[in-house]
Amino acid sequence: MIHSICICGAGTMGSGIAQTAAAGGFKTILFDVNAEVLQKGKASIEKNVRALKEKGRITPEEEQATLQRLHLAADLRDCRADLIIEAIVEKQEAKLDLFRRLAEYNDSQTIFTSNTSSLSITALAEQLPHPEKFAGLHFFNPAPLMKLVEVIKARTTDDTVIRTLLDLARQMGKTPVLCKDAPGFIVNHVARPYYLEALRLVENGAADLADIDDIMEASGFKMGPFRLMDLIGNDINYAVSCSVYDAMGKPSRLRPSAIQEKKVRDGELGRKSGKGYYNYLH
Ligand SMILES: NC(=O)c1ccc[n+]([C@@H]2O[C@H](COP(=O)([O-])OP(=O)(O)OC[C@H]3O[C@@H](n4cnc5c(N)ncnc54)[C@H](O)[C@@H]3O)[C@@H](O)[C@H]2O)c1
Repeated sequence: MIHSICICGAGTMGSGIAQTAAAGGFKTILFDVNAEVLQKGKASIEKNVRALKEKGRITPEEEQATLQRLHLAADLRDCRADLIIEAIVEKQEAKLDLFRRLAEYNDSQTIFTSNTSSLSITALAEQLPHPEKFAGLHFFNPAPLMKLVEVIKARTTDDTVIRTLLDLARQMGKTPVLCKDAPGFIVNHVARPYYLEALRLVENGAADLADIDDIMEASGFKMGPFRLMDLIGNDINYAVSCSVYDAMGKPSRLRPSAIQEKKVRDGELGRKSGKGYYNYLH
């Protein structure tokens, strides 16, 4: 049984997952190496639950209970829980280093999961002390609103761990889907051409990016590809493109875009940095 959850990384995804966990009734610890991000994460959770109360979706008591279940941690030694959900940078070495250090403070029963969008869950599991207790738990952005959660089984993951994660996602009000450990799992594999073909049109001078967004939204997509990449974060989206491209054997149709690489180099990450394909500072 899961009673406590520690989310590592309080950025775009970590803060949303922490809100979801606390609202779902779990003792929730939110950790980040960056104190400013941690405070911003807390402020965004407070703002979101206040808005839910003002809209009448939750009671004032539920708002208070959610916030009381949330604890901030600036020290890794405070990251002890029944379940760890890692949501830090999309880099295998950074994730492995964090998991190895977390293993020192947690016991062998703790379940470790990664919110990675694209890295191999089996490759991560096999380099960790308890590969049978490791799985992928992939939330979507914004985590409190998006119902889908991909649960990814590594070659080594115990079936009981998978059952626990599927139950947990349902307790959080989510719709879990069990996925194989394939590049990009399901959603990020299927969605890759949506971003890449749009970037290709701009690279070739065939269309203006705002026109592409407007046309895709008018044709029924909730968000055009460039607005969506700015919401996701260009660093994350580019890292996912690179990872899927490499894992698929570098087919030309999945070649990452030079435009997006430049955005990352220039620090134009999207909403989180104030500028991406669009400007968010006004
Ligand atoms: N952005 C999305 O739409 C999205 C959707 C689903 C999954 N993901 C995945 O979630 C993960 C996080 O993405 P994000 O968009 O929230 O990134 P982000 O850049 O918004 O946040 C990452 C956070 O991790 C922190 N961090 C970095 N190293 C750390 C460490 N060693 N220990 C603790 N904190 C550390 C950073 O300070 C930062 O606050 C990635 O693996 C990404 O692929 C992202």
